[in-house]
Amino acid sequence: MGKGMEDKNKDKKIEKAEGKFYIAPSLLSADFLRLGQELRATEEAGADMFHVDIMDGHFVPNMTIGPSVVNAIKSVTSLPLDVHLMIEDPDRYLEDFIGAGADFVTVHVETCVHLHRTVSQIKKLGARAGVAINPATPVSSLQSIIYDTDMVLIMSVNPGFGGQTFIPHALEKITQAKRLAEEKNPGALIEVDGGIKPGEIFGEAVRAGADVLVMGSAFYGSGDYASLVRSVRK
Ligand code: DX5
Ligand code: ZN
Repeated sequence: MGKGMEDKNKDKKIEKAEGKFYIAPSLLSADFLRLGQELRATEEAGADMFHVDIMDGHFVPNMTIGPSVVNAIKSVTSLPLDVHLMIEDPDRYLEDFIGAGADFVTVHVETCVHLHRTVSQIKKLGARAGVAINPATPVSSLQSIIYDTDMVLIMSVNPGFGGQTFIPHALEKITQAKRLAEEKNPGALIEVDGGIKPGEIFGEAVRAGADVLVMGSAFYGSGDYASLVRSVRK
């Protein structure tokens, strides 16, 4: 990474702000053979953070990468890493992923028996804590944990794969999560993940209240990352 890029990203803060949203390309759809170049091109295109999907073949029917690859990614980028843990028993790996450089660690309510303990541990280890819910899990399941959460992640596909179709009902859940956050923890970010494409879906998700928009296949399949970022920012 060049010095210029590091300086440019230095003040990039992912904080809730009226009228502002953040683009988080999901590396799941990047070309892993050329990962270094993909990271650089994504930064240069003006993305705000990297979304890193961790899958274990148990909670979701797919496997991806572990902490050592996260560590390698961290060593060449100054953008924040948003690590989405789609794994059973995430407590076992919090230290490893945060040690590897995760800035945000998001766990699923469906995988955490003692969710409050898990969230507290993420923060104690120095990362920001996100809590994700699957398409079939209601926003009401966040009612108690919202006070301690830095980010809520509304899944708009069933987790496991990139390139799936956006589930429209997620829009209503974004609105509900936004209301819940406004009422109980106004600083909490709302993130949406799955099937986000530039155009109508992107606009509707932002209008519903999404602060962070994950884009995997639409981003890395676009061919021109910079013009994609420009088009969604309009
Ligand atoms: C799905 C992952 C997503 C995925 C999104 O399980 O959590 O982050 O990479 O990819 P797209 O944008 O292609 O749906
Ligand atoms: Zn994800």
